[in-house]
Amino acid sequence: MSTSKLAAMLAVASLLASQPVTAADAGGAIIAAQCNGCHGFEGASKGAAPALKGKPAQHLSRSMKDYKSGKAKGSIMNRIAKGYSDAELDNVAKYYSGLK
Ligand code: HEC
Repeated sequence: MSTSKLAAMLAVASLLASQPVTAADAGGAIIAAQCNGCHGFEGASKGAAPALKGKPAQHLSRSMKDYKSGKAKGSIMNRIAKGYSDAELDNVAKYYSGLK
C-alpha cells in the first residue's frame, strides 16, 4: 500500500474515532475505516471490491462469516474476515447497511 493511501486511511480512522458514536454503531464505523480503502468511501465502491453501502446487514454479516469460516472462497476476504470477532462483523455490517 502506498504511504499516501495509508496516511489517508489513518486520517479517516482518527476522524471517525474522534466522533461520538451511538451504541448501535459503536465499533462499526471504526472498523469500516479499515475497509474503505478497498470498498470505497462509505463502502460505495466503484472498483474491484464490491460496494457494501446500503446492502442488508444480514447479507453482509453472512458473507463475512462465510469468508471467515472458509465456506466462501474469496481472493482476500478470507484473511480479512478472520481478523474480526463475529460481534465486530455484525457491527460493521450494521454500519454499512445503515448508510444511505
Ligand atoms: C484489500 C482489499 C479489501 C479490504 C481491505 C476489505 N475488503 Fe471486503 N472484499 C474485497 C474483495 C476483493 C471482495 C470480493 C471477494 C474476494 O475476492 O475476496 C470483498 C468482498 C466483501 C464482502 C462481500 C460483499 C457481498 O455483497 O457479498 C463483504 C461483506 C466485505 N468484503 C466486507 C469487508 C469489510 C467489512 C472489510 C473491513 C473489515 C473489508 N471487506 C475489507 C476486498 C477488500
